Amino acid sequence: MADLVKQVGRRIEELRYRLRLPAVECPARRAGQLTRHKPRLAHVWLPSVTSFVLHDPQCSFDRRICDLGGSAHVSGQLSKAGGRLRSVGRASDPPSPRRELPGVLRRQGRSRTGAAQGIGEAYVTALAARGSSVLVADLNAELAAAVAAKIVADGGKAAAVRVDVSDPDSAKAMAELAAETFGGIDLLVNNAAIYGDMEFSSLTNVDWAYYRRFMSVNMDGALLCSRACFTSMRKRGGGAIVNQSSTAAWLYSSFYGLAKAGVNSLTQQLAHELGGMNIRVNAIAPGPIDTAATRRTVGEMISPIIEGLAIKRIGVPDDLVGMCLFLLSDEARWVTGQIFNVDGGQVFRS
Ligand SMILES: NC(=O)c1ccc[n+]([C@@H]2O[C@H](COP(=O)([O-])OP(=O)(O)OC[C@H]3O[C@@H](n4cnc5c(N)ncnc54)[C@H](O)[C@@H]3O)[C@@H](O)[C@H]2O)c1
Repeated sequence: MADLVKQVGRRIEELRYRLRLPAVECPARRAGQLTRHKPRLAHVWLPSVTSFVLHDPQCSFDRRICDLGGSAHVSGQLSKAGGRLRSVGRASDPPSPRRELPGVLRRQGRSRTGAAQGIGEAYVTALAARGSSVLVADLNAELAAAVAAKIVADGGKAAAVRVDVSDPDSAKAMAELAAETFGGIDLLVNNAAIYGDMEFSSLTNVDWAYYRRFMSVNMDGALLCSRACFTSMRKRGGGAIVNQSSTAAWLYSSFYGLAKAGVNSLTQQLAHELGGMNIRVNAIAPGPIDTAATRRTVGEMISPIIEGLAIKRIGVPDDLVGMCLFLLSDEARWVTGQIFNVDGGQVFRS
């Protein structure tokens, strides 16, 4: 740990010099303090591949540098996996001491995760790589455990839990586990959905039991997880929720589009119910993303869809990560109730 701190200290000094920031005491000289410092929590919960993230202050020097340096500060984030300071920014205001997700960061040569990985895993992996601890929650317990194990093997902090987001008790148990494991909840990402292998039928003939199950997962799941988590966020002074929508909300796609339109409206309505508690709620509406689920669900129909995009390639999960991190961060502190398309220019909205 001492070596790591020294390494970060040196890097911060370099960055300070490059950015012409006022001199600050190098955190390396305060290694004793850093190692004794208790983790401060900033969690992200990504139902399916849904998780909770805990930001470890040993890996973030934002506040410390702010404390030491006055008006200008370096925003640094240590990748536990790589042991390098990955990003740096400059801000006129000190970052919030409460949540320290790094916000919009310049990525330094980070390679994309494989296109075969699902979107939730890309979110979780990116958050863990930025020093956050995550609880990976999914209906598929094995998948969740494997994702968590990979994060841990890469030097991150993660736990896994099985959750059915359509079941209030299961969502509640997930929230309780997150609070127990990490001490509280700051951030929630509602990504779970029936998507891979979903049935194709119209609203007029879909089997009613299937429709009810589908809507309870794809629409109500986001509400149930938000209901399970917001109290902990409120206790901690606020938080942020990101719901996973889809461009399908504006295109014909039967009950799938209907559920995503519901997620959009949920985002807007919840933003008002929770805004007074300093909890922000936003949504990401991806266009077609190359995941195993898309390959199974869309198959060869993907070619004409790509033709219709302004940017003529299918998206990959990493294309969405920047928006997710931004919305969860304090960089987005005055952004709520919004739906952001990340879709290669698939749909017009006016
Ligand atoms: N891939 C795309 O092109 C695309 C585009 C727009 C939006 N989306 C949305 O992004 C999200 C992830 O998509 P993906 O391609 O990674 O699909 P995916 O099928 O790999 O991910 C969905 C995950 O949700 C989990 N899940 C299903 N039911 C659940 C339940 N009841 N409780 C908890 N977890 C449950 C599944 O096990 C799976 O891990 C979904 O919300 C999807 O609708 C995907």
